Amino acid sequence: MPIEWLPEARQLHLHSGSLSDVIGVLESGALGQPHFGGRLATGRSYRHLGRAPFPGFDNRTGDPVPLVVPTPDRGDYRVPGLVVIGADGSPALDLRYVDHVVSAGKPDLPGLPSTYVESDGEADTVEIRLADEPTGLEVVVRASIFRDRPVVTRSLTLTNRGPALLRVETAMSVVLDLPDDDWHLVTMTGAWAREREPVDRPLAPGRRSTASVRGASGPDTNPVLILRRPMTDETTGEALGLALVWSGDFLGEVEVEPFRTARVRLGVNPETFTWHLEPGASFTTPEAVVVRSEAGLDDLSQTFHGLFRERLARGAWRDRPRPILLNNWEATYFDFDADRLVEIAAVARDLGIELFVLDDGWFGQRDSDDSSLGDWTVDRRKLPDGIGSLAARIRGLGLAFGLWIEPEMASPRSRLFEAHPEWVLGVPGRHRTESRNQLVLDLANPAVVDHLTDALTPVLREAAVDYVKWDMNRNLTEVWSPTLPPERQGEVRYRYLLGVYELYRRLTAAFPDTLFESCASGGGRFDPGLLAYAPQAWASDDTDAIERLRIQHGASLVYPISSIGAHVSAVPNHQVGRITPLETRAAVAVFGAFGYELDPTRLDDADRAAIREQIAWFRARREVLQLGRFHRLRSPFEGDGNETAWLAVAPGRGRAVAAWFRVRSRPMPGPSRLRLRDLDPDGRYRVTPWPPSGDAMAAADAGVRGGDELMVAGLLVDPDPREAGLRGDFVARLFDLERI
Ligand code: GLA
Repeated sequence: MPIEWLPEARQLHLHSGSLSDVIGVLESGALGQPHFGGRLATGRSYRHLGRAPFPGFDNRTGDPVPLVVPTPDRGDYRVPGLVVIGADGSPALDLRYVDHVVSAGKPDLPGLPSTYVESDGEADTVEIRLADEPTGLEVVVRASIFRDRPVVTRSLTLTNRGPALLRVETAMSVVLDLPDDDWHLVTMTGAWAREREPVDRPLAPGRRSTASVRGASGPDTNPVLILRRPMTDETTGEALGLALVWSGDFLGEVEVEPFRTARVRLGVNPETFTWHLEPGASFTTPEAVVVRSEAGLDDLSQTFHGLFRERLARGAWRDRPRPILLNNWEATYFDFDADRLVEIAAVARDLGIELFVLDDGWFGQRDSDDSSLGDWTVDRRKLPDGIGSLAARIRGLGLAFGLWIEPEMASPRSRLFEAHPEWVLGVPGRHRTESRNQLVLDLANPAVVDHLTDALTPVLREAAVDYVKWDMNRNLTEVWSPTLPPERQGEVRYRYLLGVYELYRRLTAAFPDTLFESCASGGGRFDPGLLAYAPQAWASDDTDAIERLRIQHGASLVYPISSIGAHVSAVPNHQVGRITPLETRAAVAVFGAFGYELDPTRLDDADRAAIREQIAWFRARREVLQLGRFHRLRSPFEGDGNETAWLAVAPGRGRAVAAWFRVRSRPMPGPSRLRLRDLDPDGRYRVTPWPPSGDAMAAADAGVRGGDELMVAGLLVDPDPREAGLRGDFVARLFDLERI
């Protein structure tokens, strides 16, 4: 059992792989964290690792005693994990250990997404009960550890067992007190169309945080903290990763205090949150996932990828290779009718596309983004015979059919808003901010969730949708719900997310064979919370291949390739105006949930032939790319960012696909060696460069090579610098590897 309890030491030791999480009951009864990090032997007490309490401070600080649930106002002057105000108005809780229960398996969290197990043998869970006697607050720290993954998860459940109302102001899902600050913190930044760029900074005294107050996890940040030792790189060194299974406002923060210890905390953002805990009521925080590696960021990513793909994503599509889709958005925007769509779909089918996705503009009277959200009935002007008939025509061509929806919104110009102005978020008597001409529905109101279930189910059923793209195109403002009294408005953002999750739960249950893809103006809500319902997400509205190198590379730090929606689009690119070769656009998009987003009827014969070939090539390698292990070989965020290289290796290592990309052409560029990883060192691989080319690079790399050679010496890039003049900018080269 990977959870050990030593009664004499009053110590719990959760261990798996290279990870030990040691929790001990201190003399005072407070819950200490003497160790979180590298693997320690079982059967021993580690109580001495938590430093001795400073006299008079009751095991708090002054002196930095590591604690599992640190609370304020009693001598621990670092950032707190839990702030609950009792009837006396004070947050000075005194949480003391009561008891704990260890069990096999991993329980679900009420109404919240979480990682899970398929059999009780996969993980063990301890629930540690703490109590603050004066208020009657009970805190259950829930910690699970996966047996075969270096992963622990944490969440808290707060229950008010006292007679008076308690006000929860901060409830972090996890706090880790690390004994030193010799780390770099990696967080993500970005904006619409350039999401998930890693920011890597050494820790320093003071606080460093990443947070969202948008009501969504946001394009400019992500609920993830990665800590790496200064020497840690992709393949060596210690790293910790924390991710919150949550899609709304969050705070991830590291505080280095004067003794140079580091407190890491991750949870719902206290800035936009309060919760009234009535007597008898409970509140559960979202789940935090903590991952550890001793073999670099690549290994850390492998653990995240495996966990998120296999034990966070759910449903029929979890393990299935994803259909190659064509989305009509960049092909037509709002300007289409049934015949035009069928014309596009017919050509798409001829190219080898498997799924046709009808994006925005099919409902209400929506010719631009200024109307009809909320009116989920087909626009008969565009689709006179209805959505079922269009779906049937598309299916008649041999394609699956998918549909775009944006359930959480209402346009001010919509029948829904006219009928139910009280269903949108907004503060009575105050201005209501519009964004993209739309308002946000109050999903904290169960009646709205019921209405959306009833409105969407028949449409999705009529179209018998094989795929749903669930969009969310604005963030929350004036977050106020008439369903709650003024003093409880701090609950609305959390309850909004519970509503979103509930609607996802209902629709994914009603359509169990449908593939769901989440989206929020591209990658504005690409997070572990939604991955629990939608196994893939539209990673960015930016479809430019060169921008995508950065976006997909950044996302791959934690998100598996199968979750990263990636499409080939037309040139000049609609977001940045860049003209890249078609083969480069495809070479980037195949490292994702692959598809096209262009008008195939406008392509010339050569491009159509090229796409037909791309699709055939991808089909034969789809499982390697989407379900294999993904490795970052060269980073667009390092050096001058001119080169990127990726590798996907199939389970069993019999097949692999490597990719090399160069942004700008340079005179006399090479040669350089691209060293691969994760191959069978004793195997021999047939290396086939793609697309076929007669240049010196193809000649140098084509042939049979040992796995050892490919990892130790590598592939040759630019062996003949005189060929620089042939290549131009935006070059991609794929290498197919097959063990013989
Ligand atoms: C968002 C999405 C796009 C597209 C449009 C439709 O911007 O990210 O892919 O669906 O909405 O309005």
